[in-house]
Amino acid sequence: MSKEVLAASQTRVSRRDLLRLGGSSIVALLAGGGVSGLLSGCAIPLPPAPLAKDAATPAFSFIPEVEIALKAALREVQIFPGKATRVWTYQGEVLKGDASTIQDLPGSYLGPILRVRKGQKVRVHFTNELPESSIVHWHGLHVPQEADGHPRLAIGSGETYIYEFEVANRAGTYWYHPHPHGRTGPQVYHGLAGVLLVSDEEEAAVGLPAGEHDIPLVIQDRSFGTDNQLHYLGNGMMDRMMGFVGDRILVNGQPDFTLPVTTRAYRLRFLNGSNSRTYKLGWHDGSPLTIIATDGGLLEKAVQRDYVVIGPGERIELWADFHGHPVGTELRLQSLPFFGAEAGAMMGQGRMMDSFSALPNGAEFTVLRARIDREATETLTLPERLSTIHFHQPEDAVNREKPRTFDIVMQRMSWLLNGRAFEMEGVTRNEVVKLGDLEVWEFVNQRGPMSMIHPMHVHNVQFQVLERQILPALADQWETVRAGYVDEGWKDTILLMPGERVKLLMKFEDYAGLYLYHCHNLEHEDLGLMRNYRVEA
Ligand code: C2O
Ligand code: CU
Ligand code: CU
Repeated sequence: MSKEVLAASQTRVSRRDLLRLGGSSIVALLAGGGVSGLLSGCAIPLPPAPLAKDAATPAFSFIPEVEIALKAALREVQIFPGKATRVWTYQGEVLKGDASTIQDLPGSYLGPILRVRKGQKVRVHFTNELPESSIVHWHGLHVPQEADGHPRLAIGSGETYIYEFEVANRAGTYWYHPHPHGRTGPQVYHGLAGVLLVSDEEEAAVGLPAGEHDIPLVIQDRSFGTDNQLHYLGNGMMDRMMGFVGDRILVNGQPDFTLPVTTRAYRLRFLNGSNSRTYKLGWHDGSPLTIIATDGGLLEKAVQRDYVVIGPGERIELWADFHGHPVGTELRLQSLPFFGAEAGAMMGQGRMMDSFSALPNGAEFTVLRARIDREATETLTLPERLSTIHFHQPEDAVNREKPRTFDIVMQRMSWLLNGRAFEMEGVTRNEVVKLGDLEVWEFVNQRGPMSMIHPMHVHNVQFQVLERQILPALADQWETVRAGYVDEGWKDTILLMPGERVKLLMKFEDYAGLYLYHCHNLEHEDLGLMRNYRVEA
């Protein structure tokens, strides 16, 4: 850590901040010198228990290869002609190491694209300049609990939190967003989200489209007033129960998004960064999609689908080859109708009103246009093999006979998991797993009088999908989406349609501690459809 950096963090890191940090961060700061005074006279015990992985290595050995400052602050951006839009946004700066770690998206409210490599040691100084508390979560990353952005770690206005972790994940498209208690929906909605790309050697050897031909595309829906300001209605009871969907579709923070392309292959990395909208993506002319990656990186081999379905939090990567299209052609990527044209969320066996959106979940609309601008000279062929996946074996699961089951049920105007809403530190016996165990988890979206789409997300792991089942009574509407699932690779977020149950295989490796699992419909999450699970050594 350089002198200047330390000086910068000293002024901002309060004693409370230090106590929120993991043990290793404190030692790292102390080793840098100068902050010990902040801790003296402190009667509060240091954070508990070193974590499994850290225990083996002395904490002061953490020397970051890249160090960045990330701040959440208020800003104005020009989204429409006329009045600028007030947003909340992440801004980043590289303090040490590779300058290409941060790539700004000029003119967008989205945070910068962060690029890291597998095995890289990363330190992030997150400063909260919002008028309320917040914390950053690295969605999909496998990190120690104190680097995971749990709401209990949220920091107040003006405070700084320091993250330290080594990138353990495979190459892939991950993302970062706030995770404060009860306020994730509004904070993401107002602009706080960004893409985090991990690269590794295996991926580099495959020869995929790179540079300007490798394009992250974040799909979000928003509602604007006539003054161009964001309207968030997600605080109303109905929207909290249903999830808020907007009537404008934005890609990378821009409405009516057009992607200029040449007649060659591209890697298009889609993130559904919406609060509660699910997309059924397909080309308007019906040509099939070639999928090369999901949440946890590259598949073993590309798969084809007529359409793909992605819920909030999920990622899907396409190999899109525009070869053969005449210059001037425009291809539309649609969200195709599902559950029947006008349908929104589902209530029981019937259909019910969506939240008060002009563009309900399940309606058809254009997500983006790809416009062929010129001929490309180079051609690229889709590699036959994309990666090697070391799948878990179901027979190795410690609970394969009796999966750990989580019921998603609406009760008393609230969504609950096994009858319980979120409690900051609360963990039931069914929510304790053993470090090193491979388990089967089953999410069940089949019980109770009301059922909706729930994209369930588990922190700290990438899992495999073992099996899906649907209630016969809801099989018809399921048929409008099921061919769009891509369950072949690693996942950290899984869509459950009304009436569906899903079995997952997941292993709890490296880190003991408290992690979250929750619905990534952010209004559901904020309403309490989230729980902790604890990994015990
Ligand atoms: Cu992207 Cu806990 O979530
Ligand atoms: Cu996450
Ligand atoms: Cu939900």
